[in-house]
Amino acid sequence: MLFFLDSAKLDEIEYAITRWKIDGVTTNPRHLMNAGMKVEEFAQKIIKMIPSLDFTVSLEVNPHLKESEEIFQEAVKLSKLGENFVIKVPATEAGFEALVKLKKEGVKVNVTLVFNLVQALQAAKLGAFYISPFVGWKEERGDIDPNFIPTVVKAIKNYHYDSKILVAATRSVRHIADAALCGADIVTCSFDLYKKAFENPYTEMGLKIFSDSWDSIYR
Ligand code: E4P
Repeated sequence: MLFFLDSAKLDEIEYAITRWKIDGVTTNPRHLMNAGMKVEEFAQKIIKMIPSLDFTVSLEVNPHLKESEEIFQEAVKLSKLGENFVIKVPATEAGFEALVKLKKEGVKVNVTLVFNLVQALQAAKLGAFYISPFVGWKEERGDIDPNFIPTVVKAIKNYHYDSKILVAATRSVRHIADAALCGADIVTCSFDLYKKAFENPYTEMGLKIFSDSWDSIYR
């Protein structure tokens, strides 16, 4: 399973590329707001940091756009900012219509804001490159469905669609583990969640026990 960083903060991205060797980046308008950048400025800066050809960066179209033609035009414009960009369009009727045209143009699309299995299937049928089911937003609102991600993964694999399932809006280490156990292709997490996930209090406890033992031998 690939690990993507869900952030538009360049210092976090730099750290995650160099220290963690993360596999890609996802952004959204909220991340850009937190990083204080417009999408064009972010694209210009991130392009210089991309470590390899298969490292993708997802950029989202303007969420105000409602017509498929507008979404299509904006996505084409963003895709021209660099080869590694995958363009996020929403899982709406207009977004799906834009996806069909974008596929024909060779633009890679990440269908975002996916909250049910049928949205995921439609995205896969129409040729999405990534499909992003949001796990945390549902749970935060009490809409707890442990089968959501596993059923999406199973259905997409049942029909051998090419789309990759990118588990998004993760909030806990458990979300990462669950994504891996059901065979999701990618997980995207915040910088802070990876920091938490890569460490464990028991590891710290073990280091303390072993350090004390070491000291008693070498004192
Ligand atoms: C994924 O691609 C999205 O950017 C992301 O996971 C959205 O959720 P969040 O910003 O609430 O984590």
